[in-house]
Amino acid sequence: MAVRTMQRQVLLFTLFFCFCSVTGQVSYSIPEEMPKGSFVGDIAHDFGLDVKRLKSGKARIYTGDSAEYIELNRERGVLLVKDRIDRELICAQTAPCALHFQVILENPMEFYSITVEVTDVNDNAPIFKRGEMKFKISESVNTGSVFMLEQAIDLDVGVNGLQSYLLKPTDNFVLKVQNQADGSKQVEMVLQKPLDREKQDHLSLVLTAVDGGEPQLSGAVQINVNVLDSNDNAPVFPQKIYKSTLKENSPEGTVLITVSASDLDDGSNGKISYTILNSVDDASEKFYVNRETGEITLVGNTDFEKKRQYQIHVQASDEGGLADTSKIVVEILDTNDNVPAINVMSKSNIIAEDITPGTVVTIINIQDPDSGENGNVQCNINKNIPFLVSSTSNNFFSIVTDSDLNRERASEYNITVTCSDEGVPSLSSSVTLTLQISDVNDNAPVFERSSYEAYIVENNTPGLSIFTVKATDADWNQNARVSY
Ligand SMILES: *[C@@H]1O[C@H](CO)[C@@H](O)[C@H](O)[C@H]1NC(C)=O
Repeated sequence: MAVRTMQRQVLLFTLFFCFCSVTGQVSYSIPEEMPKGSFVGDIAHDFGLDVKRLKSGKARIYTGDSAEYIELNRERGVLLVKDRIDRELICAQTAPCALHFQVILENPMEFYSITVEVTDVNDNAPIFKRGEMKFKISESVNTGSVFMLEQAIDLDVGVNGLQSYLLKPTDNFVLKVQNQADGSKQVEMVLQKPLDREKQDHLSLVLTAVDGGEPQLSGAVQINVNVLDSNDNAPVFPQKIYKSTLKENSPEGTVLITVSASDLDDGSNGKISYTILNSVDDASEKFYVNRETGEITLVGNTDFEKKRQYQIHVQASDEGGLADTSKIVVEILDTNDNVPAINVMSKSNIIAEDITPGTVVTIINIQDPDSGENGNVQCNINKNIPFLVSSTSNNFFSIVTDSDLNRERASEYNITVTCSDEGVPSLSSSVTLTLQISDVNDNAPVFERSSYEAYIVENNTPGLSIFTVKATDADWNQNARVSY
């Protein structure tokens, strides 16, 4: 183990207060951390000294002010380990590491220089000072971005010192190690795959430093990366079109539908507010959306007869300015809110009593703007009059005579036309038409009696009234004037 490099030299030294001569020098090499009493070197042999001379010369080791790690066994003439030799303590990163001391003999005084090189043993693992490295990295950072990592320290030297680093996992980051001028290594991790907070908001990596000793020692440190959000996700509506129905004339505040968009981002980047966009129709005035809840309510009047459909364009925006829109198609449903309107198109105020049955006396037109059954209208007239109502074409009704008329029986008719729709409940309206029946000379005068019998006395005075006959006529006016 002890490597001997023998150099016998004759030197002149001034030591203490005397002249010392005849000196030599020898070097040994031992590993650090040898147990106490371990053999270092045989100086008796190497300097050609007798063991007796060592005893008589009171041979001893001189280290000056330095600590003594090596002791001299005079009986055997050998150097032994006296105290624990920690290379890292004595030399730190200096290599080679050597102990320099002298062996001094008296009578005559002799002086031998000894160098013990302490070789490194891999007794130190690489160590990271901090137990954890923390990073806060935005998900929007570009690939290629570099993050400096803490270096590990290995007190050993040479192959036993720090050799390399390992980073795991390497899904997003790869390791980059650069040798520095001072022999240390600069350790960095480089982003090679973009971060995505929405997929993974926290990454946990382990950086391991290994030395080259036998066995190999290593140290590890945890790297925690918190991925910070950036507004890289827009709000999204699950549907592009929503459908809704609303009865016309619904009261204000009627809830139509609640829309909801989602945003994968965090915090304000994911905070959604809803607005109704202006559109050609007046949907933005008729409807209101709650900014926060997306609930859409009615705030105006709706009239099926004026507008049957609205398209509401709702926008969901996050606070980072990204947005999505969706359309709500609102079908307005009809309610029976319109009374049938009766318009008399043409009307005879007076007709002759001899008119033939089936003659049209009035044509009316019906208007009901409601749709379906709410707008289906049927008309009737009052019973027990010689008229009937018939539907001619769409929304037109005519009133025709149903049987022979007879002014002498009825000279006037009040015809009440009632028109009702088929809505539930039904709405109706009515109009009364007064129709006069004009006279036709269809009645002959009729005597009150079919025969009269009268008696007169003879020789009566001429010009004296005998008796009176009377005929009446059911007709009217001129047609009823009877002459005898
Ligand atoms: C028709 O109506 C008018 C006004 O109400 C009334 O004066 C008249 O007597 C009515 N005619 C018939 C035949 O009922």
